[in-house]
Amino acid sequence: MQNSETGTVRVLWRLVPYAKKALPRIFLGVFAAIAAHLFALAIPQLLQGLVNSLVEGGLEALLPAVGFILLLGLLEAFFVLLRRWLVLTPGTHVEASMRNALYEKLQDLPVAFHDRWPSGQLLSRAVSDLSLIRRWLSFGFVLFTANLITIIVGLVILFTFNFWLGLIFFVATIPIWVAGFLFEGKYNVVARLSQDQSGDLATRVEEAVHGVRVLKSFGRGAFAASQFSSQATELRSTEMKKAKAVANIWLYLIMIPELAIGLSMLAGIWLVAEGEMSVGTLVAFFATAMVLRWPTESLGFLLSFTLEARTATERFFEVIDSENKIVDPVAPQVVSEPKGLLEFNNVRFQFPDVQSADGELLRGVNLRVEPGQSVALIGLTGCGKTTLTALSTRLYDVTGGSITIDGVDTRDLRREELRTLIAMAFEDATLFSSSVRENILLGNPTATEEDLKQAIEIAQAQFAYDLPNGLDTTIGEEGLSLSGGQRQRIALARAVAAKPKILVLDDPLSALDVDTEAMVEDALRHVLKDTTALIVAHRPSTVMLADKVALLQDGTITAFGTHQELLKSSEHYRYVITSLDIEQKEREVNL
Ligand SMILES: Nc1ncnc2c1ncn2[C@@H]1O[C@H](COP(=O)(O)OP(=O)(O)OP(=O)(O)O)[C@@H](O)[C@H]1O
Ligand SMILES: [Mg+2]
Repeated sequence: MQNSETGTVRVLWRLVPYAKKALPRIFLGVFAAIAAHLFALAIPQLLQGLVNSLVEGGLEALLPAVGFILLLGLLEAFFVLLRRWLVLTPGTHVEASMRNALYEKLQDLPVAFHDRWPSGQLLSRAVSDLSLIRRWLSFGFVLFTANLITIIVGLVILFTFNFWLGLIFFVATIPIWVAGFLFEGKYNVVARLSQDQSGDLATRVEEAVHGVRVLKSFGRGAFAASQFSSQATELRSTEMKKAKAVANIWLYLIMIPELAIGLSMLAGIWLVAEGEMSVGTLVAFFATAMVLRWPTESLGFLLSFTLEARTATERFFEVIDSENKIVDPVAPQVVSEPKGLLEFNNVRFQFPDVQSADGELLRGVNLRVEPGQSVALIGLTGCGKTTLTALSTRLYDVTGGSITIDGVDTRDLRREELRTLIAMAFEDATLFSSSVRENILLGNPTATEEDLKQAIEIAQAQFAYDLPNGLDTTIGEEGLSLSGGQRQRIALARAVAAKPKILVLDDPLSALDVDTEAMVEDALRHVLKDTTALIVAHRPSTVMLADKVALLQDGTITAFGTHQELLKSSEHYRYVITSLDIEQKEREVNL
């Protein structure tokens, strides 16, 4: 228990760097809250004298005492207001700075991280966890600290009224502290579970919205809904466990102070009857105990709030602490006058989550793409072509060997420089919800109008001019309003507009008809004479247009040469080409 107690403080302590600017206001908020409570605690002190003088029959002290009590009440109200005003805004700054840090980290983390983490988990961290931390900082932390201090001060005051009475009261409240410690251990577990489950639920919603067409077309809407509902039910039952744990501690927090008051009242009346204590002191004692009731009762809620903030903080730092192994070199090199020589030297690669000993996907790939040359990469499906292209821009890092550009290891280049040297286009073209122009100029926002025009021409994306607002037409999320082939052409224009020295194209023409593809290929070959190109190809026609062809088989390049050469020399090549041919014919029939 002790461990998890220090653990909570240590975890929350990590918020300090983000909360630095907000801390002065937050701590002033704590002081204002304590001041309000202290004024409330001062009232019984006056009551003591007032009652005693009333009992003794004197009325002259009445008016000034009442006036003073009124003043104390007003001061209390003022400090409550002051606390609220102080803590209203600082939390929002903390939330914003944490959210920025999280977003930056997510952008920086490698693809391997995103392969592993469901998007909903990241979304729930960025949204609900951070807003919980904000609320806790400006409300939970302030009240929890202030209330704890008030309770301690209040207990000391009770002891000064009468030591024995104070002791009885204190002993009677010990079960609260025990219950609090026990509660912390239990609640931590369910709070974590609930936050993780809501992340999973967010993932499910995201997937369902994203894949709504697939679900609808397969008539699986009801199935998806039932999956969602069973996950939601799970979350509900975790929430119920949380609520039960809180209800339990509330029981202690409400019942035990009543019991303590009852016991000390018996003892107090006895002490007054014995003449050991004045009536005024007895009244003041109970008035003080009553002031302590709300801070004590609120502890249950504030403790659970604090534990939820701890969990949220842990979940935030799980992302922030994720190690990024794909980082910029300490002493970066520069390719000053890039020629565009791309070499794969004995490249080996195994996905991090593939554990088996023979799980290597690439087992010594050697490939040299000369400056200005275009090389088609072909191989059976699943042989690792996409992976090989992803290695060239360090979306993943090689696990053996090296990839060099003009002889410089890609790991010795700053990532930003590397990614200006190489531009990629993928089969699965992701577009962002902004204008066509912004999508094309993503990799080169300062490109001239001329560059933009040329990129559109090469990619055969002239259709964009005919969209309702031309190049300024906003295309929907992921470019849903465009056809697959249109999306691919915008993505290709994006790669071309980046004006890279090396273009890596992972089958970016698969959705185009053969004629359009031939036009794109032709433009690529003629306009981009100086651009090195590595093109993953799924069509014999694409293959034939390339200067050379590389055949990827069993994790290595087993044949390299012109299409004609390979047709003669490699049986596997003939096999792959025939299967691509069949695929192409099937597609053409379907067109
Ligand atoms: N993140 C990952 N973790 C583990 N294995 C993966 C991961 N991504 C891909 N793979 C596996 O690696 C292999 C190669 O995939 P890759 O996408 O490179 O094939 P490909 O040659 O491009 O295939 P296709 O021609 O169908 O596009 C496949 O067996 C795939 O299942
Ligand atoms: Mg692929």
